[in-house]
Amino acid sequence: MIRTAATTPFADQKPGTSGLRKKVPHFRQPNYVENFIQSIFDALDGFAGQTLVVGGDGRYFNAEVVQIVIRMAAANGFGRVLVGRDGLLSTPAASNVIRKYKAFGGIILSASHNPGGPTEDFGIKYNIGNGGPAPEKVTDAIFERTKAIVAWKTVDGPDVDLSRIGETKVGQMTVGIIDPVDDYAALMETLFDFDAIRALFASGFSMRFDAMSAVTGPYAEEILERRLGAPAGTVINKVPLPDFGGHHPDPNLVHAKDLYDLMMGPDAPDFGAASDGDGDRNLVIGRGQFVTPSDSLAILAANANLAPGYAGGLKGIARSMPTSAAADHVAKKLGIGCYETPTGWKFFGNLLDAGLATICGEESAGSGSDHVREKDGLWAVLLWLNILAVRRESVKTVVEKHWTEFGRNYYSRHDYEGLDATVANALMDELRNSLPALPDAHMNDLFVARADDFAYSDPVDGSLSKRQGVRVIFRGGSRVVFRLSGTGTEGATLRVYIERYEPDPARHGLDTQEALRELIANADMIAGIAARTGRAAPDVIT
Ligand code: G1P
Ligand code: ZN
Repeated sequence: MIRTAATTPFADQKPGTSGLRKKVPHFRQPNYVENFIQSIFDALDGFAGQTLVVGGDGRYFNAEVVQIVIRMAAANGFGRVLVGRDGLLSTPAASNVIRKYKAFGGIILSASHNPGGPTEDFGIKYNIGNGGPAPEKVTDAIFERTKAIVAWKTVDGPDVDLSRIGETKVGQMTVGIIDPVDDYAALMETLFDFDAIRALFASGFSMRFDAMSAVTGPYAEEILERRLGAPAGTVINKVPLPDFGGHHPDPNLVHAKDLYDLMMGPDAPDFGAASDGDGDRNLVIGRGQFVTPSDSLAILAANANLAPGYAGGLKGIARSMPTSAAADHVAKKLGIGCYETPTGWKFFGNLLDAGLATICGEESAGSGSDHVREKDGLWAVLLWLNILAVRRESVKTVVEKHWTEFGRNYYSRHDYEGLDATVANALMDELRNSLPALPDAHMNDLFVARADDFAYSDPVDGSLSKRQGVRVIFRGGSRVVFRLSGTGTEGATLRVYIERYEPDPARHGLDTQEALRELIANADMIAGIAARTGRAAPDVIT
């Protein structure tokens, strides 16, 4: 019954910020998927007879890979695989299922916010038993294995019917097809005051949720429209499509521009939100008021006690290093711990497990809490709704009051996409070489206070992660940060993060790019972006 196939290694199976991501045709090479899945299993220990969770965001190639994983899990000795119906599970829902059913781990098939389709992106990510992305020591072990693999194991047999809830057998192993939404919706009911949110909608509060033809459609429809009574039509683009309707399922001001325009226009509803391909990111816009993800994290943390799940207060707040310091001001006021981690959700896992942090967030439209071990788009939307249901103020008022109380962190990220990798690496190398000379440099009326390459020592297990982004911090706390993306599949993407703190409410009404003008010019001066890349302007500004 078990078949062993000989194979040879691929040199390019190193997991990035969030798993292995490549174009579909690349994954389609013979043995490519199988090598990576077998390498995951080979790098793990002690899963015989245990449960593996499998699901994905429904993008092109999702269903085929679910079948491959099921067969290989059976051949490798798992006792049970739990799969979301139709192979669907949002990333936060998968994290919840792993935790709830005490699974050994899970395989999530997604390339997050990257486009999908026959020539677009696909991804495979392994999550450990706490429900979170595998930490670096696990991804490193997987990578080592991919370089030495000689065989993979499977069982032959027909495909499992993924459309029917229930149990079947593949070899000795049980396959359970579960409703992808039920467990997740039940978890949300434990965290938020659904009665208060229902009353908010009943009072005429209007909302638009753009699921971007990605995985959150069924989740948002069930929770917002069915359980919370939002009017039908609140959720748009709610059917998950393999190519996301040809769009980037990335909830930012470029790819969710229709939502942005609606929210800034005369017919704006009270609240607008969107989520990404696999449901872990969120975009939040009030009528006439965009909320930056960094501000959203700070506002959610400052008001979390209004939701029943967080009424006891927060243990701490964690944010990725490039995320603005807005949340730090909240942590300080609440007198709780504040942690600064490298980019990528995997770095929050230990802090959440150890009870050091309750709420975490990244500037890249991700926030979440200790309810799962992934960021969670709908969670953020529901916490916002819970806060608005209690405060009965507009998003704009909530944001402005927050700035008045804590100060405003003007913040923006500039992305230069599809750069030649050699050019991008040379730019970063040169930047690193220039660090010792930067302190005290004077540029556009600003003095550099310090400059370094961020390194993180995990307070729980002591592991050290180096080269996590170059920071140039000016006197007074303004800063620019440079790093290369670890999730792209084509060339290199340079991310430049720009931040300026403004305590004075009289100066909170500026246009963000205007408020950051000197810093943007300084960033170009420090890294020689235009000169090295030939690009006059970033491709994406968020
Ligand atoms: C990007 C984001 C990062 C996020 C990751 C996965 O990674 O910047 O915050 O955790 O996607 O969603 P990057 O491409 O910058 O490596
Ligand atoms: Zn995502």
